[in-house]
Amino acid sequence: MTAPPPTSRQVCAACGRVFSETDPRLQCECGGLLELRHEHSGLTGAALRALFDDRRGAAHGPFRSGVWRYREMVLPTAGDDVVTYPEGNTPLLRRPAVTAWAGATDLWLKHEGHNPTGSFKDRGMTVGLTQARRIGATAVACASTGNTGAALGAYAALAGLPALAFVPKGHVALGKLMQLVAYGVRTLLVNGDFDVCQELAHASSDQLGVYLLNSINPFRLEGQKTIVLELLQQLDWEPPDWIVVPAGNLGNTASFGKALAEARDWGLITKITRIAAVQAEGAAPFALSYREGFARRHRVEAHTVATAIRIGNPASYARAVRAIRETDGVVTTVTDDEMLEAKAVIDAAGVGCEPASAASVAGTRRLIRERIIGTGQRVVAVLTGHLLKDPESVIRYHQETEAAPPGANRPIEIEPRLADVERVLAAARNLRR
Ligand code: F0G
Repeated sequence: MTAPPPTSRQVCAACGRVFSETDPRLQCECGGLLELRHEHSGLTGAALRALFDDRRGAAHGPFRSGVWRYREMVLPTAGDDVVTYPEGNTPLLRRPAVTAWAGATDLWLKHEGHNPTGSFKDRGMTVGLTQARRIGATAVACASTGNTGAALGAYAALAGLPALAFVPKGHVALGKLMQLVAYGVRTLLVNGDFDVCQELAHASSDQLGVYLLNSINPFRLEGQKTIVLELLQQLDWEPPDWIVVPAGNLGNTASFGKALAEARDWGLITKITRIAAVQAEGAAPFALSYREGFARRHRVEAHTVATAIRIGNPASYARAVRAIRETDGVVTTVTDDEMLEAKAVIDAAGVGCEPASAASVAGTRRLIRERIIGTGQRVVAVLTGHLLKDPESVIRYHQETEAAPPGANRPIEIEPRLADVERVLAAARNLRR
């Protein structure tokens, strides 16, 4: 006789009230956010590691996905009928030029831009749309700075559901806007910033009955936990000293904390990695709270070139506080110039990422300079989105900014003559990287 499958439930993080796993509400009556608790698989840490290792490289079925490979810790009751692209299985890279720029000795880049729609959001959406289908949702929606909406669109298409995205007019990078339209999302260009979009999305979910797939949705966070599980597996379950992550709406910060705590509780690892959350200086409400020992929550008017993290009132604040506290983590800020310089280094290393992603590498450099990250410590910096998400920022940096910023690679106009080519080639050989 086989054992009954494990069960999961939703629990209010504020008051502890318990809801069934298929309850469609996203918030408790007390206002607290819900989180998933999965019944323990009963396997030892070693057995679980072996199971996950065994599923690596599967050619068929849900285990091809770098999210569903960890099903026991994501959504054990989902069965095999999941809405998957598949996603995940993103590379963990080392690039000496990036390591040197950051002043690090042991730096890895976890490149989430290699997901199907070009950002980590796919890991949350595969679980979010799987759940939407389980509860019989008839439409899905999100507020977004672009990437969440793009992922929502692709996965809603897979699930055969209509999708709605509320985006801040004039503040969505071109690659993302293009994806929203291409994937068939009803794209609402809202006259307001992301925080206004978020309020409108919540009201629509409450009053119009669409299933909200913002990062307050606890099922999305379960998927995003696999960024951490996958990088731990890629490091042979040897936890790094630090994971550094860009922080906007704080969904990732929260889910990373949950992933690390559960990985320890389930015996996958014995040492907890510290989380460093990095905000843009002009959009840093979480860093403000951190400096005050999280005495209170801040709301700011956000300004940064990194449109992905142009967020003044992050939704997952409370659970991100817990993640920082439980991992002895830190929150820091970087300027737009630091972020863009880091991005130019990551791009020129042939890796590439969007501006917000480079906050993790710029933040790593800052924390090393401040001796918060120690020399010799192992760091994994998460690159959250693909270079092609924001082509305009690249052109602005390399071609249009006066005076030329560090690493600017100006396109060169020539006459159709070999002599001009020869001149450029000679200069390039001299500068050989
Ligand atoms: N990096 C990228 C590329 C993002 O798109 C986002 C968030 C973040 C970092 C911040 O992550 O919100 O979990 O702290 N993008 C959301 C969106 C807001 O709508 O696409 P977070």
